[in-house]
Amino acid sequence: MGDLVLAIETSCDETAAAVVDGRRVASNVVASQADLHAVYGGVVPEVAARHHLTTVNAVVDRALLDAGVALADVDRIAVTRRPGLIGALLVGVATAKALAYATGKPLVMADHLHGHVAACWLEPLELDPPFVALTASGGHTRLDLVDDYAAPQLLGQTLDDAAGEAIDKGARLLGIPYPGGPGLEALAREGDATAFDFPVGLRSRGPDQLDFSYAGVKTALLYATRELGDHGVQARRADLAASYQEAIVRPLVDRLMLAADIHGVPAVSIGGGVAANGRLRHLVEQAAGQRGLRVAIPDRALCTDNAAMIAAAAAFTAAIPWPDYVGEDAIATAPPGGIAA
Ligand code: KG4
Ligand code: ZN
Repeated sequence: MGDLVLAIETSCDETAAAVVDGRRVASNVVASQADLHAVYGGVVPEVAARHHLTTVNAVVDRALLDAGVALADVDRIAVTRRPGLIGALLVGVATAKALAYATGKPLVMADHLHGHVAACWLEPLELDPPFVALTASGGHTRLDLVDDYAAPQLLGQTLDDAAGEAIDKGARLLGIPYPGGPGLEALAREGDATAFDFPVGLRSRGPDQLDFSYAGVKTALLYATRELGDHGVQARRADLAASYQEAIVRPLVDRLMLAADIHGVPAVSIGGGVAANGRLRHLVEQAAGQRGLRVAIPDRALCTDNAAMIAAAAAFTAAIPWPDYVGEDAIATAPPGGIAA
């Protein structure tokens, strides 16, 4: 028996829908609004919500079409309920509720971060617990012990900025448009990662802690650019990008490996938009290989925001039967502990 899920994700600036059959991704459609927000240097919540509204129906239709299924064939509808921009989330939740209600189907209200972790459950990775998951995105940076996909346990998280936030802000200082990750990565490839010694957050706390801090490295880049002046920055842009990227990526790799050692798991995974970064992917593969750990790295399209990962989270989240979800709503914040199944 198949389990056909139509999932919708609109928590930030991608309008996404996917059809997932068991662990197989039948379609995965993402309409990015990044260009719309680039002129502002970051996501404008009101603009995001309005654009989701104009795009979401077409994206859902496309996902069904690409999968070659009709809405009537779908067993469950899933949607990102939290956390995210409230206006943006509301568009996805209202759409999913309407589709589920009109067709008499159950609705699964899933957690975005749970989705980033559960992306590794999908084909072709099909990672099964136990493992330690690193999630690094524009809004979150955290490590979870996954003994059971239904209940990831928080091991550590950022105490200030998220890794992606630091990447986007640093990229902006170097004149790279939003979202800065891909541009920073491309520039860093031409630079020397050892040229500048940017600080790694929380080093003074000792070697055994699993939290992150990115406020310091961002400030260090700001001071370095001030000291260099416009000409100096132009001449050293690639070195600045490479050194900055390294200072962000290194603690992600080191603490992921430390968490794997502490908890004695046979596997690690990475997810979230920052996990699309080639340098991070390479370093994680290398470090995991040295320890004999299995490493699960999703396709880049399953790292950045998408709806297939929400269908994956939905496999481990209780479905709400028709029509009990009509009074349910989107929630902007993450719950204490961070992931709600
Ligand atoms: O998971 P995601 O798509 O959205 C959130 O849930 O936040 O993550 C977006 C973040 C942005 O900060 C973006 O700059 C970063 O992921 N990102 C990257 C790369 N691609 C996207 N960071 C580094 N290298 C990349 N190639
Ligand atoms: Zn995300």
